[in-house]
Amino acid sequence: MAQVRLSALEKDFGSFRALDGVTLTVEDRELFALLGSSGSGKTTALRCIAGLEQPSAGDIFIGSQSVLKTPPNERPCGMVFQSYALFPHLSVFDNVAYGLRAHEYAQRGPVGRARVLGSFVSRRLFPPSATMRLRVNDALQLVDLAGEAERMPSQLSGGMQQRVALARAIVTEPEVLLLDEPLSNLDRKLRVSMRSMIRKLQQQLHITAVYVTHDQEEALSLADRIAIMDHGRLVQLGTPAEIYDQPATPFVADFIGAENLLPGTVTGLAGDYLVVNAATLEIRAAGRIAGVADAMGAKVRVVVRPQAIRIASSHEGLDVENTFDGTVRFGAYLGATARYEVAVADIVFIVDVPDPRPGALLRAGDRVVLGFAANSVILVSEA
Ligand SMILES: Nc1ncnc2c1ncn2[C@@H]1O[C@H](COP(=O)(O)OP(=O)(O)O)[C@@H](O)[C@H]1O
Ligand SMILES: [Mg+2]
Repeated sequence: MAQVRLSALEKDFGSFRALDGVTLTVEDRELFALLGSSGSGKTTALRCIAGLEQPSAGDIFIGSQSVLKTPPNERPCGMVFQSYALFPHLSVFDNVAYGLRAHEYAQRGPVGRARVLGSFVSRRLFPPSATMRLRVNDALQLVDLAGEAERMPSQLSGGMQQRVALARAIVTEPEVLLLDEPLSNLDRKLRVSMRSMIRKLQQQLHITAVYVTHDQEEALSLADRIAIMDHGRLVQLGTPAEIYDQPATPFVADFIGAENLLPGTVTGLAGDYLVVNAATLEIRAAGRIAGVADAMGAKVRVVVRPQAIRIASSHEGLDVENTFDGTVRFGAYLGATARYEVAVADIVFIVDVPDPRPGALLRAGDRVVLGFAANSVILVSEA
């Protein structure tokens, strides 16, 4: 059972506080994303779990044990770095076997250690055991690299190199897999296919994974739960749907890619709906505002997702609580969707229309009506 628990974790670099009281629990077999912009402390948190960094305060538990006094090579962790970090002079086989040899080295007495040291240097003089071959080949098979064992890293594409790094991290059968922006150096198409490979592997091996990324789409699509970090602090923790649908703060709403994020004030009630004034618009919103007891006069951010807005030629065509006259500013055909910028008074809404027909795209200057339902409006407290 490999639950990972951070308790009031702090890390100072000189007078700079990189981690500022992070408390969270990653459940056994969960894929947990640490999401935040560059410099928010994600790598520092991961390195603390791996033992590559010693926290200034707080504690780290893997299972029920504190690992603060456990050296890195004795922690049940495998790690994958953004930059692959393969040994360029070692074959794929030896790169993957490295983890096993290092493990063996840590466990052996002086005589055994000399042998293991030799095996780092020469595979001819110190041939790998049958078990080692089996484990390395199994790991390579899992990452679709069976048959590539004798190639050198420089002969492999970036995606293949990262799969070697992944094999090296899992070959020791760690309980916890730590991944630090593992896909950031790959092109988009490869990133998406590698994502599903990592997910399948994690589930197949019943491994607990902490996945660091600055890419909100990656976190949303991959993780069971996400922790959003900002300036060394945890700002929200939840499932992808919770974070997307109920961002706790304007920072989270903005970070998680809210294209339409308008500052507003709650000014009244209309039937079951809150009325929010945002610039010159009056918007009806269903539901409550997280963390605000008395909504009247509350300063909020209004979030309307681009795909929640519909475009019609008249108000009658839209059976929703919010409709506004607008003018198309700009349109882009993206294949599966068309994205429009539509000006309504002094506000520009981003609108995504699914399944656009290339012959029927709107043009700049077209007059349209925008509509969105009150229950698609998300209110985020400014306080
Ligand atoms: N060894 C170090 N010495 C001094 N400052 C560091 C060190 N490592 C990280 N930092 C600082 O701590 C902050 C968080 O860094 P990091 O954890 O790498 O962020 P992230 O991975 O979220 O981009 C950054 O401002 C970074 O400059
Ligand atoms: Mg980092």
